[in-house]
Amino acid sequence: MDFEERIERGVDAEKWKGAKEKDELPLWVADMDFACSDAITAALHARADERIYGYTSGMDDAYKTIVRAYYERHFGWHFPLEDLFFSQGIVQAISILVQLLSRPGEGIVIQTPVYHPFRRQIEANHRTCVTNPLVRHADGSYTMDLDDLRKKLSDPSVAGMILCSPHNPVGRVWTQEELKQVSAIAQEQHKWIISDEIHCDIVKAGHTHHMLESMAEEAARDRIITCVAPTKTFNIAGLECSHIIIHDATIRQRWKEFVIDQLCISAPNCFAISAARAAYADSDEWRAAMNRKIDENEALARAFLAEELPQAVLSPREGTYLLWLDLSAYESDPKRLEQRMRQNARVHFNEGVMFGAEGACFERINIACPSSILMEALRRMAAELRKQA
Ligand SMILES: Cc1ncc(COP(=O)(O)O)c(C=O)c1O
Repeated sequence: MDFEERIERGVDAEKWKGAKEKDELPLWVADMDFACSDAITAALHARADERIYGYTSGMDDAYKTIVRAYYERHFGWHFPLEDLFFSQGIVQAISILVQLLSRPGEGIVIQTPVYHPFRRQIEANHRTCVTNPLVRHADGSYTMDLDDLRKKLSDPSVAGMILCSPHNPVGRVWTQEELKQVSAIAQEQHKWIISDEIHCDIVKAGHTHHMLESMAEEAARDRIITCVAPTKTFNIAGLECSHIIIHDATIRQRWKEFVIDQLCISAPNCFAISAARAAYADSDEWRAAMNRKIDENEALARAFLAEELPQAVLSPREGTYLLWLDLSAYESDPKRLEQRMRQNARVHFNEGVMFGAEGACFERINIACPSSILMEALRRMAAELRKQA
């Protein structure tokens, strides 16, 4: 496990597209520049060596048992195998769930700033995005405004909410208490929660991720649909494989009719199955090492920023491999900030405004890369921001 290796990524790597030509360092889209676990690459080699890539047995019980065992082992979370479904991606699943759980025009609550496809998929499906903005504190940390959440969910035209747990981009790993309150509020208002827990495995030392549904009262569980995946954790997003856990019999039936029967989306392809099996069954050590590397990278970035850009506010990171950085002390115009980052500093982060208006003059920085790349990007950014605007 050499997380400092600089791997030449292929021509189809979205993150690196055009970067070499522009001499730009890409620390944006959320995949890692780390090699996968040896177990995954070995499984993929073995599958390729079979030389036949025919139909698979798909989401059979053997596969489902491996998936479930992983979540039991790491989170003490047990679910019936029949509640486990497949979707190519979590964004795809969210888009589908929005259709299954609400009617056109109805509201769906998101907690901004938040992963931008939440809004996009709500609006693409002609629903209304209702915001329950997170509360930002002086140290850059965030908490939920639970009174406002209750207010928003109590509106009869609001169907439910999408929770991001851990939260991208602000890096919160929600506490047991926060999760209990969110599920209690949704239950009290008879609203559902799509809980996107794709970042559940990427957690800083000293923090623990709790699955929302494990924190909820028994009666509230049916209203929670949980989305998880091996893709973010194990760096196999290009293989497109995620899992949706649905307890409610009516929603399960709707998923079967619409997704499996009508759309014919039912199982990962043969390479995704092989990789996901190796990820879930045989990559725990890699995951632990990856988390240590992310913690180290964060510590390096934090020390550098404290020294070189003391007025930048870096939110405390509890989970995800994303840093959320407020640069408004150095640049007050988000458009100009982006221009200065891309054109002058030649670094590509995610501009904060894409996650909501609250993110103006923030950058989201993906630190899942060799520290040599991370530090070079931070040096370029700091040199640019220290210039007079
Ligand atoms: C919160 C969150 N959900 C979903 C995704 C993407 O999921 P998928 O690639 O499975 O659609 C990401 C990727 O960054 C994410 O941060």
